Amino acid sequence: MEKKKWRTAISWHFDGEAYVRGYNLAELIGNLTFTEAIYLVLKGELPTNRERKMLDGIFVAMVEHSIAPPSVIAARAVASGGNSLHVGVGAGVLAFGDAHGGALEGAMRFYQENADRDVEEVVREYLENGKRIPGFGHRYYKDYDPRSKRICELAKEIGYFGKYCRFAQQVEEWIEKIKGKKLVMNVDGSIGAVLSEMGFDWRMGKGFFIIGRVPGLVAHVYEELVMEKPFSKRLDEEKEVEYLGEKPKKLPDSFKNRRL
Ligand SMILES: CC(C)(COP(=O)(O)OP(=O)(O)OC[C@H]1O[C@@H](n2cnc3c(N)ncnc32)[C@H](O)[C@@H]1OP(=O)(O)O)[C@@H](O)C(=O)NCCC(=O)NCCS
Repeated sequence: MEKKKWRTAISWHFDGEAYVRGYNLAELIGNLTFTEAIYLVLKGELPTNRERKMLDGIFVAMVEHSIAPPSVIAARAVASGGNSLHVGVGAGVLAFGDAHGGALEGAMRFYQENADRDVEEVVREYLENGKRIPGFGHRYYKDYDPRSKRICELAKEIGYFGKYCRFAQQVEEWIEKIKGKKLVMNVDGSIGAVLSEMGFDWRMGKGFFIIGRVPGLVAHVYEELVMEKPFSKRLDEEKEVEYLGEKPKKLPDSFKNRRL
C-alpha cells in the first residue's frame, strides 16, 4: 500500500462514526470517566481501576496551586490586556518551562535515565556540576510538599510505589546529605516518579501538566475577565519596580533636526 503523507493510530471514522483507539466514541460517553478517556487516548488502551484511580489523583494534585506561579501571572496579564479566554489560557500554557510545569518532563527523564544507577553518584554528578535536579526544591515548601506526600501515600495504597518512587525518595535524602539543606520532592518530582511506574514515556511529561493545570488557568482567566477592569495587571512603578537604568539625560544635538 502507498505510504500516505500523514499517519495516525489515534482515531478514525468508520461507517460515519468516530472511533478512538478502536472504540466507538459515542459508546464511551457515559461509560468512561474523563480520566479514563484521557488514559485511553494517551496510552492506547483502557485503564484498569488502579490506573484510573492513580491518574485521577495525579490530575487533582495538579489542577490549581494559587495565583502566584508564572503561568497564572502570564495568563491573567495577557487577559487584562483585553484578550479573550483562550488567548489568556494559551499564554499561561506558554509560561510552563523547566522551572514550572516542564519540570515534570525533566523529572520523568531524570528517573527513566538514571534509576538503575547508584543514586549517590547521580546526585553528586548534578550538584557538583551546578545542575538542578528537576522535581526537587520549591519556593514555598521547604519541609515537605503536601501534594507529594499524598501522591506517595496513594501510590503505596494502590501499589504504584516501585523503583522510581524509591529512587526519588533516595534522591531527596542524598541532596540533603550532600548539600546540608533539604530540597523537597515537589509535585513534579513525585508525579514524575509515579507516571514512570505507570509506564509513561518522559516525552509526554509536559502534556500531563498541561492537561492537569488548564482547568486552573481557565478559572483564573475567567475571574480576571469578569472581576477585574481591563489593564488591571499594570505594575505600579514606584511601589513595585526597582529602576536600575540611567538618570534622565539630554539627547545630543547631533541627533536633532536630522533629515532621515
Ligand atoms: C523550584 C525552584 C526554582 C525553587 O528555587 P529556589 O527557591 O531558588 O530554591 P532555594 O532557595 O530553596 O535553594 C536555592 C539553592 O538550592 C539549589 N537548588 C534549588 N533547587 C535545586 C535542584 N532542583 N537541584 C539542585 N540544586 C537546587 C540552588 O542552586 C541554590 O543553591 P545555593 O544555595 O548553593 O546557591 C528550584 O528548586 C528549581 O529550579 N527546582 C528544579 C525545577 C523544579 O522542580 N521545578 C518545579 C517546581 S514545583
